[in-house]
Amino acid sequence: MSFTIAIDGPAAAGKGTISKAVAAHFGFAHLDTGLLYRAVGAKVLAGADPVVAASTLAPSDLEDDSLRTPAVAGAASEVAVHAAVRDALVAFQRRFAARPDGAVLDGRDIGTVICPDAPVKLFVTASPETRAERRFQELIGKGHDVTLAGVLDDVKARDDRDRNREVAPLVPADDAVTIDTSDLTIAQAVARAVEIIDQHRKGGL
Ligand code: CDP
Ligand code: CDP
Repeated sequence: MSFTIAIDGPAAAGKGTISKAVAAHFGFAHLDTGLLYRAVGAKVLAGADPVVAASTLAPSDLEDDSLRTPAVAGAASEVAVHAAVRDALVAFQRRFAARPDGAVLDGRDIGTVICPDAPVKLFVTASPETRAERRFQELIGKGHDVTLAGVLDDVKARDDRDRNREVAPLVPADDAVTIDTSDLTIAQAVARAVEIIDQHRKGGL
């Protein structure tokens, strides 16, 4: 039977890290939906039309390491405001969510728009400073020429755009459980997520 876990939250809150660990723990498949928007953003930076790019996205488009750059993240959040771009990506995400072996999807609108009936919804967050510091360390580790102040500005600008757009804004679903990872280690954040999911699977909440 399919079982969908929806994980949303702002940039670099730890969604992907928690999603991967939770998927491994329960033996579920994982889809990082941010990669879809990043892949569209990368194509637009290369000159494509956003709606054409979203409608013709192929699985191989998601495997590019260059999708993790700040420039592509910014382009992703710009294409993500367009309803037609989002619409073109809905069916793929819902098919993934319905996989019979269980699925974890992380993004911005999974609990609100893509899978409003998901039995477990988590909203993973942390202070902007903590998130910027984490993303800064990640980018520096990969050899990117970035400053902490620049990464903080980028993260805040992207959060603002994601929270204030008209279509599918970043907002916790009414029935989401929030995990603030600001003062949690990765192990603690994952343990909290597993605990919440276990409670739902046992029908305890
Ligand atoms: O997917 P999202 O952008 O929300 O964040 P991520 O890529 O999972 O995490 C951003 C960075 O924060 C990664 O380098 C994690 O190792 C680190 N981190 C975390 O995810 N959770 C903590 N409690 C501490 C650090
Ligand atoms: O890893 P990080 O949280 O920094 O970003 P991401 O999850 O890869 O998402 C990149 C951008 O795609 C976000 O800033 C959003 O604008 C957009 N996005 C979205 O609109 N809806 C989703 N379900 C996932 C991402």
